[in-house]
Amino acid sequence: MANDNIILSIKDVHKSFPGVKALDNVSLEVRAGSVHGIVGENGAGKSTLMKILSGVYEKDSGTVAFDGQTVERTTPVESLNRGLSIIYQEFNLVNTMSVGENIFLGRFKEMGGMRGTHAKARELLDSIGSTIDTHRFVEELSAAEKQMVEITKALSFNSKLIIMDEPSSSLTSDELKRLFQIIHDLKQRGVSIIYISHKLDEIFELCDIVTIMRDGHMIDTKPVSEVTRNEMITKMVGRDIENEFPPRAHCAGETILKVSSIKTRKLHDISFELKKGEILGLVGLVGAGRTEIIRAICGADKVKGHAVSIGGKPVKIKNPASAKRMGIGLVPEDRKLQGLVLPFSVQSNIAMASLDRISRLGFINRAEEKAIALRQINNLSIKTPSPMTKAVSLSGGNQQKCIMGRWLEINPSILILDEPTRGIDVGAKYEIYVLMKQIVENGGSIIMISSELPEVLNMSNRVLTICEGRITGEFNPEDVPAQTIMDAAIG
Ligand SMILES: Nc1ncnc2c1ncn2[C@@H]1O[C@H](COP(=O)(O)OP(=O)(O)OP(=O)(O)O)[C@@H](O)[C@H]1O
Ligand SMILES: [Mg+2]
Repeated sequence: MANDNIILSIKDVHKSFPGVKALDNVSLEVRAGSVHGIVGENGAGKSTLMKILSGVYEKDSGTVAFDGQTVERTTPVESLNRGLSIIYQEFNLVNTMSVGENIFLGRFKEMGGMRGTHAKARELLDSIGSTIDTHRFVEELSAAEKQMVEITKALSFNSKLIIMDEPSSSLTSDELKRLFQIIHDLKQRGVSIIYISHKLDEIFELCDIVTIMRDGHMIDTKPVSEVTRNEMITKMVGRDIENEFPPRAHCAGETILKVSSIKTRKLHDISFELKKGEILGLVGLVGAGRTEIIRAICGADKVKGHAVSIGGKPVKIKNPASAKRMGIGLVPEDRKLQGLVLPFSVQSNIAMASLDRISRLGFINRAEEKAIALRQINNLSIKTPSPMTKAVSLSGGNQQKCIMGRWLEINPSILILDEPTRGIDVGAKYEIYVLMKQIVENGGSIIMISSELPEVLNMSNRVLTICEGRITGEFNPEDVPAQTIMDAAIG
């Protein structure tokens, strides 16, 4: 292959953090105008490699050449100006500024002031078929809209390579189609894309070439057409995985939780029951009201007028702390906003829900805290150099596992999991499914929200479909074809 077809060439790159070899001799070439997928387990080094390219981290050794030029050291601003931009899953926008201002942040003068900034932003948004008003504030935007702004910002720098690190995790299926269309158009314009995802279906649909990483190593790079799903999984996790789901646990216990008539602006008369030992799946599109239902139950949103009873007794759940006292654990959808304290250690994050058990007179027993952390690190195979490592330095999927561990530790009788496997690799997903199964076999009950249909259908004993704030159906996923359930969820 002629060299001028290569937009990015990485050779023998190494990168260590204290206690971790994040990248070990990694080499990779990205062809101009291609969509290049990268897959690998949590902590494999995908994000680290991308952050080296964008100048957030410095490599320890190795060479990187972008667009024909060797890049020794770089900074995020330099790499942007060179034509390489990166869209992080957590987004990098200023919430309190408008869309236009975000796209041309720090460049208003060159754009001819505010008027020019908005005009140029409009032009760029139009070019990707987006109708977002450039005067809207970023904080009002949906995840998909924010992503459009990020992409537009990348285009404003005439990016030749756009890196997307797990871009699909909070998109609805329509929004995802849109994103794929935009990626297609970008490719037509000659822009290269690096696409990182744990959703292998997306890799097959979208990518020309895929690179598989494991434990800081480059395992293989192949045209997507020449690799099977099984081969990809095996190479990612380093062993054969026979099934993606454990066999379903069976249950028929008494009612543990009863919820009647939750009514809010968004929810219309939501009533349902959860049985002991049951996994109940809530199926619906993003935005259907699934998260609102569980937030109302746990007292996270101030909602009045509904009734909740646990084990037959009426209860008043004022806030998530009182929910916890009544034996309800909630693993929230957005781990960064609602769960994890990033500057704290892995250990304090895991033990956070167990503090009443391990502290006396306001002092935390650190030995007990550590014991809790080690138990869950082991339980969930959390990849961390030590319990004292700060949560911020864990990979995305391992952060998610820390929150799971926090709730598993207090052994709640009702565990609510909102998108429990978002950002989690296939191998670790299986481990989480097995844990869920253990929980219900030990008499616990689980409410599971997931946008991944195969996952809810394979794990749940019963599913409720939620559409526009209403329960539109109740099914046993073993008896009913997936399409019927999907139809009820779409309305
Ligand atoms: N700033 C940091 N300080 C210390 N260790 C880090 C830092 N950033 C990453 N690591 C470690 O480097 C390894 C690779 O992490 P990385 O975030 O690149 O994984 P990933 O492949 O993106 O995983 P995921 O799919 O979970 O996002 C992990 O062991 C992680 O804990
Ligand atoms: Mg990552």
